[in-house]
Amino acid sequence: MADIHLDEVGHSYDGGRTHALAPMTWTWSDGRAYALLGPSGCGKTTLLNIISGLLTPSAGRVHLGGRDVTGIPPAGRNIAQVFQFPVLYEEMSVYDNLAFPLRNRRYPKAEVDQRVRTVARLLGLEEVLGRRSRRLDPGRQQIVSLGRGLVRPEVAAVLLDEPLTVIDPALKWTLRSKLKEIHRDTRHTLIYVTHDQTEALTFADEVVVLKDGAIVQSGEPAELFLSPAHEFVGHFIGSPGMNVLDAAIERGVVRVGGTPAGLAVADGAPAGRTLSDGPVRLGVRPEFVRVVPVPRSPGLSAQVTGVDRMGSHHLVHARAEGGTLVAKTEPGGVAEGTGHFHFERAYLFRDEVRCGTLAALEGTAP
Ligand SMILES: Nc1ncnc2c1ncn2[C@@H]1O[C@H](COP(=O)(O)OP(=O)(O)OP(=O)(O)O)[C@@H](O)[C@H]1O
Ligand SMILES: [Mg+2]
Repeated sequence: MADIHLDEVGHSYDGGRTHALAPMTWTWSDGRAYALLGPSGCGKTTLLNIISGLLTPSAGRVHLGGRDVTGIPPAGRNIAQVFQFPVLYEEMSVYDNLAFPLRNRRYPKAEVDQRVRTVARLLGLEEVLGRRSRRLDPGRQQIVSLGRGLVRPEVAAVLLDEPLTVIDPALKWTLRSKLKEIHRDTRHTLIYVTHDQTEALTFADEVVVLKDGAIVQSGEPAELFLSPAHEFVGHFIGSPGMNVLDAAIERGVVRVGGTPAGLAVADGAPAGRTLSDGPVRLGVRPEFVRVVPVPRSPGLSAQVTGVDRMGSHHLVHARAEGGTLVAKTEPGGVAEGTGHFHFERAYLFRDEVRCGTLAALEGTAP
């Protein structure tokens, strides 16, 4: 097992005209479970194939445990990869399919049997071990593919590219928790590609968010939720996503339309520094917008346009000058008309990147 280090790795499929991956320097730490999360076409599969060796990057070097493996094909890397659709020997039994990666590496017979049975038990494949894989439904076949990826105890890493796409939703939950269990047991470095935030957040120790071929933020699920470093992370993670309002900073005060919403405080040192004047975007998650009886800073007053009753909570929609605002609230009566919204945790973004936090205006703090 080993760290996977990418040194200025980038890729272009068209001789440099466009980048599927912008050059990135990044380390995947040994033994961690990562989710690689991003929308379709952002470069997830490209990145995974570069790590496994299916693809040679057009720029940069790939290091595995300190060894430069950039030109080395997959067989020389000791990395297991599971794809979106089943890749199996259809005429072989499930047992033989699972045993194949071990026999290929000349594992002793008893160990092959023990590993195959352990993985089969964890993935619920015990009753079908004797069956030909061709005879299984596609969902089961994919679970066998997953098993093949997880069966070898000594791999440097396991890469999973949207492995649960063909599995029905109810079983997905079970398999995800099995995967976690297997990870706890084997401590492989695991990179799990998905465009589904729930999948990413429930599975990973660390979520790496990819957008347009670049990593925009990585962190524990709670960190991405509480402290988005990029507007995209605010939108892509969370349901509904973060509210974003057009605003402007004037002498340290953030204004939405003409109305002061709070004080602009720059991220980083020195503490309490204000941001330069100019346009800014104000981001606040619906979970951190409170409906309050009287104006309270930081926050805004806005026209309530509707309330969705979701059962466990309400979504209060409002129109402010800088855009629309959604508050996720306890179920309860919210009158239509003007509402006062207090922001418990709001951030400021410039060029989509977070630059600061919205604080209470002096004299209006609670
Ligand atoms: N073999 C290829 N030849 C040319 N362009 C490609 C090739 N594979 C991918 N691309 C392009 O590179 C970019 C990244 O693609 P990639 O398949 O890595 O994205 P992805 O994040 O895995 O998307 P998805 O979620 O749809 O699987 C896309 O713009 C895609 O069109
Ligand atoms: Mg893909």
